[in-house]
Amino acid sequence: MRASLSPIVPALRLPAAGWSRWTDVVVVGGGAAGLMTAVALADAGRAVTVVTKGALGEGSTAWAQGGLAAVLGPDDDPELHLRDTLVAGAGLCDEDAVRTLVDEAPAAVGMLQALGAQLDLDPHGRPALTREGGHSRDRIVHAGGDASGAEVTRTLGSALRARGIEVLERTAALEALRTADGRVAGLRVARIDDGDLVDAGDLRARAVVLATGGYGQVYAATSNPDGATGDGLALALRAGAEVADVEMVQFHPTVLWTGRRAHGQQALVSEAVRGEGAVLVDRSGRRIMAGAHPLADLAPRDVVAATIAARLRDTGEDSAFLDATHLGADFLTGRFPGIARACREAGYDLTREPVPVVPAAHYACGGVLADLDGRTSVAGLFAVGEVACTGVQGANRLASNSIPEGLVAARRCAALLAGELPPAGVPVEPDGGGAIDPAARGTITAATTRHAGVLRDATGLGRLVEVLASARRTAPDLPLDAAAVEATALHTVATLLATAGLARPESRGCHRRTDAPASRPEWRVRLVHRLDGRGRLSVRTQPVRELVAEGVA
Ligand code: SIN
Repeated sequence: MRASLSPIVPALRLPAAGWSRWTDVVVVGGGAAGLMTAVALADAGRAVTVVTKGALGEGSTAWAQGGLAAVLGPDDDPELHLRDTLVAGAGLCDEDAVRTLVDEAPAAVGMLQALGAQLDLDPHGRPALTREGGHSRDRIVHAGGDASGAEVTRTLGSALRARGIEVLERTAALEALRTADGRVAGLRVARIDDGDLVDAGDLRARAVVLATGGYGQVYAATSNPDGATGDGLALALRAGAEVADVEMVQFHPTVLWTGRRAHGQQALVSEAVRGEGAVLVDRSGRRIMAGAHPLADLAPRDVVAATIAARLRDTGEDSAFLDATHLGADFLTGRFPGIARACREAGYDLTREPVPVVPAAHYACGGVLADLDGRTSVAGLFAVGEVACTGVQGANRLASNSIPEGLVAARRCAALLAGELPPAGVPVEPDGGGAIDPAARGTITAATTRHAGVLRDATGLGRLVEVLASARRTAPDLPLDAAAVEATALHTVATLLATAGLARPESRGCHRRTDAPASRPEWRVRLVHRLDGRGRLSVRTQPVRELVAEGVA
């Protein structure tokens, strides 16, 4: 294991706690994974408090269009779903974790239905199934056409309310409370009031479950909502947890292109549109994916995004185009009402013309190193959903595997904590700390976008490390506010991303190095980072446990 001094903020400068109270489990985050964890824990009789920095249900889940991958079709088999996931994961999946996912995803979909989810059905009353990139069978369950995530959020939100689970909305999870021997024993939280942090206090708990989602906002343009700033990952790192695969950021090949200055959350054009037959073309109408991969427009997402990015780099054009016109207006507006509306609002008619699309940051394959029961390397701290790196996604997530992973991990984590809670601990008062100046946020996102996008190289990643190392800190007498918490998280994530990207001298999955375009068998390892108490970042490699896909990566 190598260690080096890092510019990462090792501890936040915390507001003092004005109160302290007890619960069994604190769940941080209000997307599919967090809500399902809370619902299942409440059903098991545990006292649970949900903390979310926005309003309940505002996370990435609500924006998911495509759906949930699960083996439900008569021609499908868990072995096929397993194989598709491993192939997409490009040699970095944990095969045991993927096997658990493919075996348990159908039951997770069943539980959603039992809780009242209204899925789109086929003429026999069974969930209608469609296909997305990298899948060898139709296995994507959807709802409201292209409003799958919204239905998941609605269903779990109602279940949460029906159980009377305590929810602290607009509340920031600042730092894990730790015992003298490093176990997590709760959270320092504060209410967000117009950007200020007020009424700070300690939620003491036997377990803290992070379900805070990803970090797409570290890029200038992303499909992720505003809150996806990597707060949970940064908090876990500061609490001593190991994080892995952070360089593996999945770019969705098709968000709607709205101009060179596009900033923040962009409208997604679901891969399911290609699943139904749309194709990617250039300005002259030439197919982009024909000949680039045997699955052409339905190749795994890393391949499609990298092919588009290379084409745009070579031609100097601003965008690719998605041509769905041959599918017909009735079909498109019925099957994809939200996407058709978003195109219309941007001035394009999906039913009559190819619409301009570009790749944008979409999903964090890496995160807090955890197993599918949510266990991290720190006692008392658990992670489920996108914030976790369980090895299910490997170097590139298979489309629509994320919500099923979040639901499966949530149910397993809740079952674990329902069986036995970690022992109670007495936290020591956190001291010292700092924060990144929110004014540096624009520099962080611009440099990450420029140097660590779909295509990267050592020179650019090295430059990014330098830019990040000189990011300004807030003045020591300034109280911490919500913007500084997010800027600090984004800076932490970008630093990890650049460090890991530089350390991996190959191309694999979502990590495409133009100066090292081939995959190297000896790099079929996970890069695991951890921060010690003195702010030193250490890295170790972890071999992957994957047997079936030997030779396919
Ligand atoms: C999409 O609908 O294309 C996104 C689905 C996913 O990210 O899994």
